[in-house]
Amino acid sequence: MSAPLRPRPAVAAMAPYAPPTAGRAGKLRLDFNESTRPVPAAVAAALRAALASELLAIYPEYGTARAAVARHLGQPEERILLTNGTDEAIGLLVDTYVEPGDEVLLLCPSYAMYRFYAERAGAAVRAVDYRAEDLSFPLPELLAALSPRTRLVVVANPNNPTGTALDAAGLARLLAALPAAAPEAALLVDEAYFEFCGVTALPLLPHRQLFVCRTFSKAWGLAGLRLGCLAADPGNATWVRKAQSPYSVNALAAAAVTALLADPGPVEASVREAKAARARLFDGLDRRGFRPWPSAGNFVLFRAGEEARALCEALRQRGILVRDRSHDIPGTVRVTAGTVGQAERFLAALDGISEEGGRWTP
Ligand SMILES: Cc1ncc(COP(=O)(O)O)c(C=O)c1O
Repeated sequence: MSAPLRPRPAVAAMAPYAPPTAGRAGKLRLDFNESTRPVPAAVAAALRAALASELLAIYPEYGTARAAVARHLGQPEERILLTNGTDEAIGLLVDTYVEPGDEVLLLCPSYAMYRFYAERAGAAVRAVDYRAEDLSFPLPELLAALSPRTRLVVVANPNNPTGTALDAAGLARLLAALPAAAPEAALLVDEAYFEFCGVTALPLLPHRQLFVCRTFSKAWGLAGLRLGCLAADPGNATWVRKAQSPYSVNALAAAAVTALLADPGPVEASVREAKAARARLFDGLDRRGFRPWPSAGNFVLFRAGEEARALCEALRQRGILVRDRSHDIPGTVRVTAGTVGQAERFLAALDGISEEGGRWTP
């Protein structure tokens, strides 16, 4: 075999990111914060109808879906882009605004794809840590880190994996600081878990420096179809659209979201259920001595000590998938809040492992 071609230096230097997505089917998936409930019947019907039509043969059209998403967000259509998951929205902002060597300001720990796209572009990544003691939002530290060199700031609100949320006043303070402290910076507020939290930066639009993204992968249950959206000031939206491939969202995703938003009732019910499951998980973990952190997302991060990895493996043996987050915060595990029944099953599995001699020192 001959030597591979030399990649761009930025690609060669990237930290590898390979989430453990293999072999998950059929298990209780509490590891990726996806929905754990079936898609609403109307969405399944819309997808069947789409398959029976000529839709797959035609390049996708987005008019109906974009109008539905804009209505859902309470925003004019000119501010909205449909994206191939939130991930495309993040990548597009980097592609539109960040040159090699430019500064991208992130929080740590947070969703891995921010760093992925920033490093791929050859950006200089600066990270501000969530507060070690309680994982609260380090707003003064973030404000102090802004500079005229900053081209992109990304805040996941609420944050994954910590569950931390910045309130509306905090978001407004951050945005208000930008024009003086970092006048050429785009602020992306990633509201992937908005439905479980209720705080949004959308009312702060239109603003020259603000971008807000949402996903249909979590509460809305369409992770496999890859659909997200980005809301921005119309002038900014035009530039970002210019950097986007014209067909990056597939036709089935567009058909599914139209049906989904026509009747959000089933999703609203599953969000209520996930919030109840989150409370059950927090309580059950706390009582078992795992010291969970409060979360505004559909997941709970907890301490499992040196045995974190072994605990994840023991749960996997029982058919339950959770995520070891020790690479973010040593000795921590994240579990998704699906249904209350699933939370009970997870807690019962913890008890079973404990009875069989499982040890952890949270
Ligand atoms: C904060 C955050 N943003 C975005 C995503 C991914 O969203 P999408 O599936 O829309 O690309 C995730 C997934 O885990 C996430 O945690």
